[in-house]
Amino acid sequence: YPVLKPKHINWSFAGPFGKYDKAQLQRGLKVYKEVCSACHSMNLVAFRTLEDLGYSEEQVKALASEYEVQDGPNGDGEMFTRKAIPSDHFPSPYPNTEAAAAANNGAAPPDFSLIAKARGVERGFPTFIFDIFTQYQESGPDYIYSLLTGYQEPPAGVEVPEGTHFNPYFIAAKSLAMPKPIEDGQVTYDDGSPQTLDQYAQDVSAFLMWAAEPHLPERKRTGFMVMVFLAIFTALIYVTKKSVYANKE
Ligand code: HEM
Repeated sequence: YPVLKPKHINWSFAGPFGKYDKAQLQRGLKVYKEVCSACHSMNLVAFRTLEDLGYSEEQVKALASEYEVQDGPNGDGEMFTRKAIPSDHFPSPYPNTEAAAAANNGAAPPDFSLIAKARGVERGFPTFIFDIFTQYQESGPDYIYSLLTGYQEPPAGVEVPEGTHFNPYFIAAKSLAMPKPIEDGQVTYDDGSPQTLDQYAQDVSAFLMWAAEPHLPERKRTGFMVMVFLAIFTALIYVTKKSVYANKE
């Protein structure tokens, strides 16, 4: 069965002047917290970085304290669990990879820290020069969005292995071990945004893009300034060359 190309979404962070939409990232965090974090960890993301999303230090403290993390060894050499603090990272819901795989038909749910970059398409030279202007930049979040909204009944004649679920967007096979994780109405939004699968999928994909590349807008800004500088520099060099060689005709 053919793997379908991800659908393309017009992300707020696309293009040379793209920026993250903080309200959207906050909604995406809510979806991650209430749905995905039951299976997926985010080991490289510290709670304190959530201040980027517009939360205060107090709010981040409260949010972190909803999670339990492993610590230790203590004075007696024992490991113990405690409430998370802002410098901790999003923990895994499972004690280790074996337990994660055992709970999910043999396929451990991947960590989310870099998933939006890991599932992005990278094309080599020379296309990467032009890809800053193409939707290949957002192929990671496009993929996650398409996967979440792409579950369907297998078409006639297509058999999927037991314990897996048909999804034509999954890159590795025609079905995956993750059951359809999210449905219309499952998460309550308090900013009036539609509580639909489509909106949830966009919000959590944007959130995962932020998790994987929190400084994306700053990087784009720096890149733009570099281009402006190079343009001015080129003009200056040209004028200098003209003047230095003016009498050598
Ligand atoms: C895999 C997203 C919730 C279990 C994945 C992948 C993504 C993803 C992007 C990687 C697919 C790939 O390898 O290309 C999400 C999102 C969720 C969510 C955004 C919340 C909205 C869950 C939940 C569970 C789960 C609640 C457990 C019941 C798994 C498993 C895999 C997986 C077992 C590995 C699938 C395989 O390789 O066959 N998920 N997930 N996920 N997820 Fe989730």
